[in-house]
Amino acid sequence: MKFSKMLEANSKKGKTRKALSDQDLLELYSDQGQPQQQQEVQPGSSTTPLMECWNTLVCNLSVLSQKARTCHWIVVGQNFFDLHDLFGKIYEQTADDIDTCAEKVRMLGGNPTGSFNDFLENTEINDGINAGNVLTGSKKGDFSHSEKDDLSMVQELLVDFETILKLFEAVIQCEGVDRHSCFISDTMSGFYIKTSWFMKSFLGQQQE
Ligand SMILES: [Fe+2]
Repeated sequence: MKFSKMLEANSKKGKTRKALSDQDLLELYSDQGQPQQQQEVQPGSSTTPLMECWNTLVCNLSVLSQKARTCHWIVVGQNFFDLHDLFGKIYEQTADDIDTCAEKVRMLGGNPTGSFNDFLENTEINDGINAGNVLTGSKKGDFSHSEKDDLSMVQELLVDFETILKLFEAVIQCEGVDRHSCFISDTMSGFYIKTSWFMKSFLGQQQE
């Protein structure tokens, strides 16, 4: 099932803000019981499941990157110094990772997604910041907020990080995955795993 179809199905079930479940990922990308084969671009086809995995990451990371950047701009409160810095680092790292994912699509012979419309159509990540009174996206210009909103921003980004980590795992489980894809997927995952720990610690949540 293509990611856009999955998004549509999830939307009907009211699951758009929920991180993908393991079962969702199996339905999306796994070819259980089939031997792994090297992907080849079929004549008349411009994509493979592995390219789709990487392109899905391009879309999701692009939305997440701008979201983190917006948080960096508008965060206020007693945690300003820490969170302004954290959100800035997330923006910078995601920008680097988008580049890595897009270049991988090119290495596989495809073309990375490059339009904002396509990013939004192929992402699980909500592009707005729904933290308390801080609203962007659908209510542009409303920058009223309170100090508790900074916690909500961290909570939202934590959920988004879970989505990104599942998408990196989807690459590794993808039909026809290559060693370089596994390597860069694992390497990039490190930032999201470690930063999730930072954010959970900040929120006083139990580590899993
Ligand atoms: Fe800045």
